[in-house]
Amino acid sequence: MKNLMIFLSLSTVIFANSAKELVDTKCTICHLASQPSASERQNMIAPPMFGVMNNLGIHFKDDKKAITAFVKDYVINPDEKKAVCQSHAITRFGVMPSQKGSITPEELDKVANYLFDEYLKK
Ligand code: HEC
Repeated sequence: MKNLMIFLSLSTVIFANSAKELVDTKCTICHLASQPSASERQNMIAPPMFGVMNNLGIHFKDDKKAITAFVKDYVINPDEKKAVCQSHAITRFGVMPSQKGSITPEELDKVANYLFDEYLKK
């Protein structure tokens, strides 16, 4: 029993730090990870993540440094004036609520790098 408890707490430490897990718990609740179905599209509360990342890729010409910096800033300090998404996204969904307090800077760094590698790395 004691060994099991040690195993469980160790695995929480290991898995809670995986970047994908962070995205799944902190971002995918609002941003769908992949192409939405027609009915999912109707019920979306934020643009799907692949769309957001594609858009950032075009805007920042696939510059990893610029894109990860933008994501890290926007998640904590979202602002209509900074947004590079199509303005209809903001009209439809409103400005993203700041995630300050629900993600640490270290976690956000992992998330930003993961999102770039997952969606934009060629
Ligand atoms: C409570 C819902 C919600 C959560 C949670 C959320 N977002 Fe968003 N996000 C939005 C909405 C709505 C928009 C579209 C409006 C906008 O751009 O502000 C958006 C837009 C964005 C954009 C595009 C900015 C632009 O150019 O307009 C990025 C990048 C982004 N989110 C990253 C993230 C990341 C990374 C996470 C996880 C750490 C996350 N979001 C979590 C709701 C959310």
